[in-house]
Amino acid sequence: MAFIPEDKLLEIKDAASIEEVVGQYVKLTQKGRNLSGLCPFHAETKPSFTVAPEKGIFHCFGCGVGGNVFSFLMHYHRLSFPEAVQELARRYGIPVSVKDLGPEGAQQAKKRTKAYEANTAAAAFYAATLTSSEGRPGRDYLKKRGLTPEIIRAFQLGYAVDEWDALRRHFQHRGISLELGQEVGLLAPRDRGGFYDRFRGRIIFPIFDRQSRVIAFGGRIIGDGEPKYLNSPESFLYVKGRTLYGIPQAAEALRATRVALVVEGYLDLIALQVHGIGNVVATLGTALTREQVRLLKAVADKVVLVYDGDAAGAKAMKRAFPLFAQENLAVRALPLPTGLDPDSYAQAHGVEMFRSAWDSAQPWFSYLLEDLISTHGLDIEGRVQVLSELRPYVQALTDPVEQDLWLRNTSERLGVDAAALRKSLTSLAPISAARLDPMRNIVVDQEKKLLRWVLAHPEAVAPEELEEWTEEFRNPELKGLLELIITSYREHGRMDHSLLVQQATGETQRQHICSLTLEEDESEGPAGDFRAGDWRRDLRVKHLKKARARLKARLKNASDGEEVPLQVQWREIDQQLKDLSAV
Ligand code: GTP
Ligand code: MN
Repeated sequence: MAFIPEDKLLEIKDAASIEEVVGQYVKLTQKGRNLSGLCPFHAETKPSFTVAPEKGIFHCFGCGVGGNVFSFLMHYHRLSFPEAVQELARRYGIPVSVKDLGPEGAQQAKKRTKAYEANTAAAAFYAATLTSSEGRPGRDYLKKRGLTPEIIRAFQLGYAVDEWDALRRHFQHRGISLELGQEVGLLAPRDRGGFYDRFRGRIIFPIFDRQSRVIAFGGRIIGDGEPKYLNSPESFLYVKGRTLYGIPQAAEALRATRVALVVEGYLDLIALQVHGIGNVVATLGTALTREQVRLLKAVADKVVLVYDGDAAGAKAMKRAFPLFAQENLAVRALPLPTGLDPDSYAQAHGVEMFRSAWDSAQPWFSYLLEDLISTHGLDIEGRVQVLSELRPYVQALTDPVEQDLWLRNTSERLGVDAAALRKSLTSLAPISAARLDPMRNIVVDQEKKLLRWVLAHPEAVAPEELEEWTEEFRNPELKGLLELIITSYREHGRMDHSLLVQQATGETQRQHICSLTLEEDESEGPAGDFRAGDWRRDLRVKHLKKARARLKARLKNASDGEEVPLQVQWREIDQQLKDLSAV
């Protein structure tokens, strides 16, 4: 963890409202003093995800995930801790200097800046090459593909000459670190030491993030050859499944329409842009991920998948639908005639269909249903197969009304009784393993009971007394948590649950804090009737009885020499139990 000063953290944490941040991604409804909604971290149909605004924490009773506002952003967008802190500071207008990020964070930030600079320099170099005399093969190819100079500029397309060290020499000349060039995937190490260019004899497509920074490159071979595309490997700047190609170029059109077209290829996207369809992004040949759906959610209210009109395209669309359903983002499919991709379709038929893409497209469920019917047919075996393949999709429909409507539609289309269909397709999935707590036993239950109570009523017990209680704890994990609570309470003079989460030493401890706090909130009776003295006595009695049982077992097989000291111990324990009047 980077050493961000605690006062800075507290400032950001206090400014950020967890219900506001979580509420941007999860539909929350009031439930007592807390809020609940469908967990964004696992698929579920009944809300077990809870946010406690007063305490600044969240917890999911279904999958066990929990934390504070920083952890939420880290999980949701897969950010590192400093990234989450910076993101929140930005949103709430709190200045964070590089110094605030601590030595480790500052160094990371500096390295990132240098890496973006290296990528920007490379993109400029390739773009300059494209317009130079050496770039002729590239220019000719792009012209043949119908690209205009304006589009080439808008996407900063470039050309890498077919040589081993053009970029390397440019980097050396500009004083850019070659090692960093390797880390971002532009250069590759030679066996005998030194570096060579990864991209040679290719059209270069810089890949930008939402802030228009160059994070990676794609390179297409000119004409035929293998591989057709060469892409940057993943790096600390570039994670494939978190990026969509063409996001900054589409930004304005997306703001205007709030409809995003998703295509599969660089040139599919650019072909549509050439024809004035601006609201397009591309997945770049990989299956759409949850992160990409979330990116889309930030820029659009409706998404239309426009994949190649072949079996692979259909398969890719079908894999993506449940993600949209789970993320609650409206999606439709715009299937193209067999053998056409968006590019070739636009050449052949123009782009009218894409202008009104949402209206031209089919609701995803009916696209799916028809696709399954055309694959399996409508005889009895076919219908059984269709239904069995439909099942996960039906369960992904988290809105009960929508699910109901599609079930009716399906029952009519397949000629199956609606009630029977519902029963067969919506039976519940097994309970998640996280609910089955492996640590469950009486002592742990007692210890948890005390922690729940302390977390809810921190002011009721003096830290000194709490300290004595730690001696009674047997479970190391829970004992560590009680110690953490005491330290944090001492330092800050108050209980701050979300700060406690921040100070937790690991994921398990973090989850314990959130689950124990929110379990107490959920519990029925007034927590105040919990009597600390009684608890302590109960726990002590349990430990003594356990010890006595162990002794008994040992006494059974004890030799003569061992028996006496064991008997003495037995008597001592018995006496203690008598003192506690619990015999
Ligand atoms: P054209 O075939 O020139 O029209 O390009 P395209 O962008 O339409 O490519 P295509 O439909 O064949 O593939 C879609 C996307 O998959 C491409 O844009 C690439 O991102 C990716 N892709 C295709 N072929 C390869 C390959 O050989 N290697 C890698 N890594 N990615 C590929
Ligand atoms: Mn194509």
